[in-house]
Amino acid sequence: MPDRTRVAVIGAGPAGLLLAHLLDRSGIESIVIDSRTREQIETTIRAGILEQGTVEVLTETGASDRVLTVGQKHEGIELRFAGEGHRIDFTDTVGRAVWLYPQHEVLKDLVAARLAAGQDIRFGVTAQRVDDAETNRPRVIAEDAEGNPVEIEADIVVGADGSRSVAREAVTGTHGGYFREYPFAWFGVLCQAPPSAEELIYSNSPNGFALISQRSPDVQRMYFQCDPHTDTEAYTEEQLWEILQSRVPGTTLTEGPIFQRDVLRFRSFVAHETRRGRVVLVGDAAHTVPPTGAKGMNLAVCDVVLLADALRALLLDRDESLYDAYPEAARQRTWKAQHFSWWMTNMLHLQPDAGDFDRMRQIGELRAVVESRAGSTYLAEAYTGWPIQESIHR
Ligand code: PHB
Repeated sequence: MPDRTRVAVIGAGPAGLLLAHLLDRSGIESIVIDSRTREQIETTIRAGILEQGTVEVLTETGASDRVLTVGQKHEGIELRFAGEGHRIDFTDTVGRAVWLYPQHEVLKDLVAARLAAGQDIRFGVTAQRVDDAETNRPRVIAEDAEGNPVEIEADIVVGADGSRSVAREAVTGTHGGYFREYPFAWFGVLCQAPPSAEELIYSNSPNGFALISQRSPDVQRMYFQCDPHTDTEAYTEEQLWEILQSRVPGTTLTEGPIFQRDVLRFRSFVAHETRRGRVVLVGDAAHTVPPTGAKGMNLAVCDVVLLADALRALLLDRDESLYDAYPEAARQRTWKAQHFSWWMTNMLHLQPDAGDFDRMRQIGELRAVVESRAGSTYLAEAYTGWPIQESIHR
């Protein structure tokens, strides 16, 4: 006998867990499954920047108070190029801000909230496929950690299972999506050291891009542009510091032991379809952005806020209008964020085949942004996030 619930959610990342939380607040029951263990979910280091709207959703719905106490409010970023730093002041230009609060901390808060509310989250359960999307009883076919079959029948199945989504096939079939791969990646490090700067520094340097970010008073996150095939062990710690240092001329980085390294591929993807019948895709299952604009987790949160509204109307009031409007409402924001992420990426990175003209043009573009109130305001508006409900109220 399959388990039965109203909403079956594949994936206990930010999108899946937040959706379960929002649905629970309206009395809508769900089951969330994830192939990973709770510990894996809560310790994997991912993104770090939350838009103001994301923070409002988390705090106003009781999902996280810690974001305001442990997280750090950032009221600007620095763009560095041609040997100089230029601050984009978010407060001054748009009266909004972002918070530096690591994604795994958001996940810890959401898992704790779900378990405290007695909600059904199943770790170590791997989805294999989704069946019967176009009926009123779609089903998730899965397997638990011991290899026993698991089947969940629901009113709605939500694929919140990331860029390698298993649910996606039930929605898009053989139609993939819009896709772009970039000819570079980020080499990311975590180090044990005090912060080197108070705010994030996005640096366009002749040697390639670097980002100086933070995690806490004694752990820092930094990245530099590298070839996508770079091996994480290709450099000694000393070499890593040398590369990072050479890409932020003007700042002396405070060094410390590097305890994690990773290489992040750069891809942009938007699924052609994000809904079929009663199966819906959210977050990275529906779209991937390169990390430069810090939009990934924030887009997932926006999808889920829209979808929670749509599912409330559908499941509690039998009103299908928001459910029907969901794909287009989510898509409009997704493409704005795709553009912003692509723009930031191209403005800041060194293309492998760039000539002198391209490099000088980039500096011109950066100057046009930082020296113009309109340019800086656009960047600040997009970085801190467009209002979340905007698209659905239109
Ligand atoms: C991070 O701190 O991991 C981070 C910050 C800003 C970005 C991307 C990643 O744009």
